[in-house]
Amino acid sequence: MEERLQKILAAAGICSRRQAERLIVAGRVKVDGRVVTELGTKVDPNRQTIHFDDKPLHRPEPAYYLLNKPRGYVTTMNDPQGRPIVTSLLKGIKERVFPVGRLDIDTEGALLLTNDGDLTQRILHPSNEIERTYEATVVGQPSRQKLAELADGIVLEGRKTWPAKLRVLKKNSAATTIEVVIHEGRKRQVRLMFAAIGHPVRELRRIAYGKLFLAELPVGKFRKLSAADLKKIFK
Ligand code: URA
Repeated sequence: MEERLQKILAAAGICSRRQAERLIVAGRVKVDGRVVTELGTKVDPNRQTIHFDDKPLHRPEPAYYLLNKPRGYVTTMNDPQGRPIVTSLLKGIKERVFPVGRLDIDTEGALLLTNDGDLTQRILHPSNEIERTYEATVVGQPSRQKLAELADGIVLEGRKTWPAKLRVLKKNSAATTIEVVIHEGRKRQVRLMFAAIGHPVRELRRIAYGKLFLAELPVGKFRKLSAADLKKIFK
C-alpha cells in the first residue's frame, strides 16, 4: 500500500511527522536510491527501498489485531465529518495499523487491522475467496425462495454476486436473523442483498474472517493475533 513518505518515516520511529517533512526537504531521504525532496511523494514500503542518511529504514514488525468494532465508528483513517475512527480504539499499541477492508459505520463486528500490506492484499483479493461470516437481522420473514435467490447470486449494481451460504438462526413475526457467508467485499453488499429481496437489514454484525471468529471478544475491545490465528483466516 502506498503512503506518504513522511508518514512512513514517522511510523518507523525515526521522528515525528513534522520533523520528517524537514528531513525530506533537506534531502536526507532516498527512495529507490534517489533523493526525494517532494513532500507529497507516495511510496510503497513493501516494494520500494527507503534510506535515511544512507541507512536503510527498518520495516516495522508486522502486527495483526482483531477488533470488535462498535457501531458509530468509521473504518477510514480520518473522517472529514469528525466521526470516531476505529484506530482510536486500539489504545496502547505501538504499531500504526490499518483496517483490512471496510465495515459500514452502522455495522458491528470483526475488523482486522494490520501494518502488513501484503496480508491485506491477500485477504482482500477475491481470487483467494476468504469467507466473511455475518449475522444479519432483517425486517420480516424472507421466504425460502427469496433466500435461495440470494444463495444463488443476484444482480447488484449490474453485476451478479457470487453464491452465498445462508442459514436462518432465529425468527419472530417482525424480524429474522440469518447467518450469511460470502467471499466478496462489495460496498454495503449484505445490506444491498437483503434490500433487493424486500427485507432490509436492521442490524448487521460480522462474526468471522475465514475460521477466525470474534468469539468472546466484547464490542469495542481488540486482541493481538498469533500466527495460529492468522492461519484460520486462510482455512
Ligand atoms: N456488508 C454490508 O452491507 N455492510 C458491511 O459493513 C459489510 C458487509
